[in-house]
Amino acid sequence: MKTNLSFSSPAQIECECLAVVVLDGGEANQPKPQLQATDEAIIQAAQEVTSSGETSGKLFETVMLHRPQGLNCKRLLLVGGGSAKSFSAYELRKVAGTAVRFLKPKGIRSLACLAPTVSSGPADAVKSIAEGALVGDFDPDFYKSDRKKQQVESLTVIMPADSDRTALEKALTQGRIMGESQILTRDLVNEPSNRMTPSNLADRAKRMADEVGLQCEVFGAEKMRELKMGAFLSVAQGSEEEPRLILLRYEPKGAPKTPVIALVGKGITFDTGGISIKPAEGMEKMKYDMAGGATMLGAMAAIALLRPNVRVIAIVCATENMPSGKAQKPGDVQIAMSGKSIEVINTDAEGRLVLADGLHWARELGATHLIDAATLTGAVVVALGHVNAGVFANDDAMYARFAQAQERAGEKMWRLPLDGEYQEQLRSNIADLANVGGRWGGAINAAMFLKEFVGDTPWIHLDIAGTAWVDENKPWIAKGPSGIALRSIVEFVCDMGMYPES
Ligand code: BES
Ligand code: ZN
Ligand code: ZN
Repeated sequence: MKTNLSFSSPAQIECECLAVVVLDGGEANQPKPQLQATDEAIIQAAQEVTSSGETSGKLFETVMLHRPQGLNCKRLLLVGGGSAKSFSAYELRKVAGTAVRFLKPKGIRSLACLAPTVSSGPADAVKSIAEGALVGDFDPDFYKSDRKKQQVESLTVIMPADSDRTALEKALTQGRIMGESQILTRDLVNEPSNRMTPSNLADRAKRMADEVGLQCEVFGAEKMRELKMGAFLSVAQGSEEEPRLILLRYEPKGAPKTPVIALVGKGITFDTGGISIKPAEGMEKMKYDMAGGATMLGAMAAIALLRPNVRVIAIVCATENMPSGKAQKPGDVQIAMSGKSIEVINTDAEGRLVLADGLHWARELGATHLIDAATLTGAVVVALGHVNAGVFANDDAMYARFAQAQERAGEKMWRLPLDGEYQEQLRSNIADLANVGGRWGGAINAAMFLKEFVGDTPWIHLDIAGTAWVDENKPWIAKGPSGIALRSIVEFVCDMGMYPES
């Protein structure tokens, strides 16, 4: 999708479709839709619809007018943004996505969007429209033989003539980079496991690194044995597919030696559960168990293009989790890279095993801040459903900065606790740790397990099991991979690049 800005009068703009936001004024008994436009010609063109009650400004409501009088666009699309009181950049992203998804199947390829006012300012409005439009433009139907090319090819964001044009151009570029990187992540997650093996994922990482100018190293089982990654290797040993340890480095010239932010992703390209095998129903979805790894690859692509002044490394632990004659069995004891011994009570709790070694290695490579993302537990879905991702942190200062970044990114996450009392759940009779706790608080137990491998390094853990996959088509996003967490992580990294000390 090409993105550009226009500072012309919206009535003059020639385009296939001009989208304008309508908000719900919220007056009882008398719906008062508020058109987010000051241009008299647009207000006139929309007048009949806004006064007839055909639109109320309800979130995601769409009304399309053809050949609107007095305007140069072929169509005028009114998109509801919900309550005027609560409208923000968060809703604006979704509104932009809704406009794109409304137009896509109709063969309309270019969209101009009149930016509404949001409290986070005009630059954030421009960035959010670009992000949201790109999120809406992705569909996961690559393997349908009758797939039609339905992308909206051009997006024009319309801003007032007296805007700070340089700032808005920058914001548009940022939004486009974020949105495109999120599409890269979703594209990787969408691939089925026969086409996205650990080696395929590593190849895609290399290709991306070449394109954006990152250093990329890919290692196999031999190197992992050298590093003594016994926990990661124990998951990989059951599979015919070779595991891959992917390392990306972003080291901009002139960046301070510290901080070094490490992004560690769970890259299980298929999770059968191993010998503790999962039920058949729904197992096909476990191709998305590499979403954490794909998030980190997409985040690194964005970081390489946005060029924050901070060092970042990314580690993706890629393997399948398979049952076989060589697979690890419940009760096996493994020695992690850190030297800790782990009794593997359940081979389906494999994500924490690969991450234990990934996190430890990140610290050995000099990480001062750790962020991991993983589709780690079914329990986080029970706790938070499909709306909020679970976030855990061992450092309140890092959490506070991350929470701000996540707010700017417009992604929903909810902090869960890491109290010491939970630790006893992971006690093993014969080893330092068991890889599962009891039945209750499963997302916390998994996080407590990871905590054993991060030492005193400030760390954020994102459990995205409930949010990395959208189960139903929504007006603003297709059913399938969501690309959650990428934007929050990139916002955090960019902020660290600007203010490394605070
Ligand atoms: N990949 C799964 C977690 C998962 C579940 C992701 C549902 C997405 C949707 C993970 O490896 C797993 O199987 N976890 C187990 C842990 C349990 C054995 C302690 C789980 O959540 O059931
Ligand atoms: Zn599992
Ligand atoms: Zn898993």
